[in-house]
Amino acid sequence: MNATASDTLDLDALVQQAAESFGQAATPADLENAKARFLGKSGHVTALMKGLAQLSVDEKKTRGAAINVAKQAIEAALTARRQALADADLERQLQAEALDVTLPGRQRGQGGLHPISLAWERIEQIFGSMGFDVADGPEIESDWFNFTALGNPPNHPARSMQDTFYVDMSDDEGHPYCLRTHTSPMQIRYATAHARKHAAALARGDMPEVRVIAPGRTYRVDNDATHSPMFHQVEGLWLGENVSFKDLKVTYLNFCKAFFETDDLILRFRPSYFPFTEPSAEIDIQFQTGPLAGHWLEVSGSGQVHPQVVRNMGLDPEKYIGFAFGSGIDRLAMLRYGVNDLRLFFEGDVRFLGQFR
Ligand code: PHE
Repeated sequence: MNATASDTLDLDALVQQAAESFGQAATPADLENAKARFLGKSGHVTALMKGLAQLSVDEKKTRGAAINVAKQAIEAALTARRQALADADLERQLQAEALDVTLPGRQRGQGGLHPISLAWERIEQIFGSMGFDVADGPEIESDWFNFTALGNPPNHPARSMQDTFYVDMSDDEGHPYCLRTHTSPMQIRYATAHARKHAAALARGDMPEVRVIAPGRTYRVDNDATHSPMFHQVEGLWLGENVSFKDLKVTYLNFCKAFFETDDLILRFRPSYFPFTEPSAEIDIQFQTGPLAGHWLEVSGSGQVHPQVVRNMGLDPEKYIGFAFGSGIDRLAMLRYGVNDLRLFFEGDVRFLGQFR
């Protein structure tokens, strides 16, 4: 049997058919299946090859060559389709991962200080500029410094003004430890250390004045919109031979003007009671302009240091006199930044905290 024109036609049709099947394959897996149908072990091309066995040597040559041409054409169609599918896949991937190289780079968010820290720093800076030292002391404090030395002995009813958390530990003299309810124990700690440090001058009668602030964390059993179990106070103490309430008023008013950055501010003392000052007063301020204008706002406890407290500092109350105050840093920060709920300061929401600079 001779290789005829119709045989060639069959082969062309087969190539055509293969190209169509490959063209319809939508995925590489479809394409491999189509490939098997034409080029696989039991595929059409292999069957044609097997058919050669029946032919004469001459026929084998021409028919074999023709089948080979067809096979190469089918393989070329397969390769082309593989490439087309791979290109399409890459294109899809590029679309999906589209990258706009003209966008600005991502920046690391800028951190900032917590509003309480900002207020705290302002307080230190302002009192520092008025000649006040800045001191720091323990938050777990002995009952002696927190209460007793401040004229507040065990079972004194004034202790109930400041309920606190006790720690299962005592100091060397058996005074139990508690979380300090105010920064006032720093009055005793600082003045005692000051008197010791200046013992020679004290003996000569020319000890430098005690002028200090002690900001820090304080604790009470309290929790509402204006009280948190942990809060911040700043203690102030100014003791000398001739320090009066007038000095307290000038100092505190100047502090407020600097802290709130306004001169439109008045201050009043309102009689009060603390076991460690006599007389005692609450300090109220009133803005004359702005959203809080016309309201008296309580910002601090204060008073003339009680003679017994001066004695507990190792100083002679006949010679040394002065004043102390204790202000809520959180309260000052709320007023300065216009925040109406203290708890916002402690929830850690950066959308809130990020607003203060
Ligand atoms: N320690 C007082 C309080 O926390 C405030 C105060 C301090 C009052 C100093 C007088 C003098 O309420």
